[in-house]
Amino acid sequence: MSKYQIRGGNRLHGTIEISGAKNAAVAIIPAALLVDGVCRIENIPQISDVTLILQILRELGADVRTVNRTTVDVDCSHIRNRQVPYELARKIRASYYLVGALLGRFGWTEVPLPGGCDLGGRPVDQHIKGFVAMGADVEVRSGLICAQVPGRGRLAGGQIYLDMVSVGATMNIMLAATLANGMTIIENAAKEPHIVDLANFLNSMGANIMGAGTDVIKIRGVSRLRGGTYSIIPDQIEAGTYMAAVAAAGGEVLIKNVIPKHLDCITAKLVEMGVDVEEQDDAVLVRRDGPLRRVNVKTMPYPGFPTDMQPQIAAVLCLARGTSVLTEGVWDSRYRYVDEFRRMGARIQVDGKVAVIEGVGCLTGAPIHACDLRAGAAMVIAGLSAQGVTEIDAIYHIERGYETLVEKLSGVGADIRLISYPEDESQPQVG
Ligand code: UD1
Repeated sequence: MSKYQIRGGNRLHGTIEISGAKNAAVAIIPAALLVDGVCRIENIPQISDVTLILQILRELGADVRTVNRTTVDVDCSHIRNRQVPYELARKIRASYYLVGALLGRFGWTEVPLPGGCDLGGRPVDQHIKGFVAMGADVEVRSGLICAQVPGRGRLAGGQIYLDMVSVGATMNIMLAATLANGMTIIENAAKEPHIVDLANFLNSMGANIMGAGTDVIKIRGVSRLRGGTYSIIPDQIEAGTYMAAVAAAGGEVLIKNVIPKHLDCITAKLVEMGVDVEEQDDAVLVRRDGPLRRVNVKTMPYPGFPTDMQPQIAAVLCLARGTSVLTEGVWDSRYRYVDEFRRMGARIQVDGKVAVIEGVGCLTGAPIHACDLRAGAAMVIAGLSAQGVTEIDAIYHIERGYETLVEKLSGVGADIRLISYPEDESQPQVG
């Protein structure tokens, strides 16, 4: 039981260092299952989703050793188990990457259907279509995705046209195809930075993947992957979240350890709103002094505006002059946070995938509930800009994806504290 308590109104000044990318880490760690040897993975973010996926690997029999705060050695040479523990796997969306990795390496697996944020239906039909095109039999029964190659041998290369651009299906098919016999071609593939990062990881271990970052990816199967060392890219969405925080609270912050190109889609909208963003080699300097202007935003697959930044940009648009239109182009239901924003004085009307946001200039602090990871991050942004005190509960959602958020924001002058309630005590402890 923990909350964030934020006293809004402080402008932000200083430097924030960005951690490794969550969405890359949760695919690259399962990808170590394909490797016959030790993978040293660097720049791993310390977040609860990563802790969970490492725990799942340990349960499967992997040798996972912590080298330092951001580096682990993973050795999957002696995996015993191909069945993924139910209670662990259903907590995170990324558990579905275990299907591609285990099926690709061992020819069979049983993995619980994924969990993660509740953003509407989360089908896996395109993942399954890919595995079937590579020769697997796949069925969903008793809450499990059960996949096997007849005879439990290797998958065969196949040609897959994705019906929609899916990050999860693109990465899962890449994982499955890495050790398959022959060439796999994924058409209408997603192009997100973490897809390129997964391909770079696999290639650095001996895979043969071409075209990642374009909409046609070709994977020529190889017989084995050897160990090696790889460093995960910086987190595009964590960086975007702090950029939005500066836009909302005002001030000037250097956001370090980023790939500015990955932020272009976010930078473009913030600049349109009147925020100054100066790109440096591996940093962006974000400054906001004047009023914020209204803009329209539509979320789309990369290089479009990311759906994972939709709630955070909504928090900023609540403060802009005029009325903005926000359209969710990826998920059916990603506006569950709107009721919480209304408690803070926001004026937002939602109709299906469209939210109309009338800027109110200033929000007011309130007790609110983090309903999912990115919505929770948006509530932190709203709280930083609001008059008075905001208390956000259910912060375990936020801890799934943001490393040391309180320390990073306090370091640039925000008044934010973690309040923990020990389970058997009624008095909170402030930390
Ligand atoms: C999506 C986002 C990703 C974000 C993540 C968490 C896109 C393209 N993807 O990735 O950036 O980090 O949510 O918020 O922006 N779909 C199917 N069948 C499938 C797979 C997907 O119909 O088998 C649909 C989904 O319902 C969704 C769309 O395709 O409408 C995109 O899904 P997908 O990219 O796979 O989701 P994630 O990998 O979770």
